[in-house]
Amino acid sequence: MKNVVNYVKFEFPSCSSNESFSRTAVACFAAQLDPTLEEINDIKTAVSEAVTNCIVHAYPDRIGRISIRARLLSGGNLEVVIRDWGVGIEDIEKARTPLFSTGNEERSGMGFTIMESFMDSLRVRSVPGRGTTVTLKKKISRRSGGRS
Ligand SMILES: Nc1ncnc2c1ncn2[C@@H]1O[C@H](COP(=O)(O)OP(=O)(O)OP(=O)(O)O)[C@@H](O)[C@H]1O
Ligand SMILES: [Mg+2]
Repeated sequence: MKNVVNYVKFEFPSCSSNESFSRTAVACFAAQLDPTLEEINDIKTAVSEAVTNCIVHAYPDRIGRISIRARLLSGGNLEVVIRDWGVGIEDIEKARTPLFSTGNEERSGMGFTIMESFMDSLRVRSVPGRGTTVTLKKKISRRSGGRS
């Protein structure tokens, strides 16, 4: 199943300007799957939520390291792994609950819920004080009638 057809890895500091860069970079990588505009937008939205979480929650008062690995697996499966080495999450189940947030009033607590609904699967692994790894997966369906 884990037949890796192609991959890309990149790393960047948690400055807010890298949020739009990283979602666009993943979208560019995913373009080789010939996704629909809707699929591209779903991927961008999910990556944007995950990276924003690293920027605002993982490194609340400093600039830290964020890495992204995107893999194209056989069968048109896209996997995106967003990792940070920040504060980590104490209770992952609680963090994933819709509307739960430890952030300020600007945060609505919907990031994980959005990632879950825009992608096929979401896995969150975290060690408090060590960091968090978010794995997003989405199958990109081959469009009938070939590429246009
Ligand atoms: N990378 C991370 N490092 C540390 N804590 C995180 C990380 N990602 C999420 N969290 C924790 O999980 C909570 C829920 O995240 P989620 O993205 O669902 O909501 P939010 O970021 O608080 O609000 P929103 O995404 O709607 O602006 C956060 O408030 C934070 O406590
Ligand atoms: Mg969030």
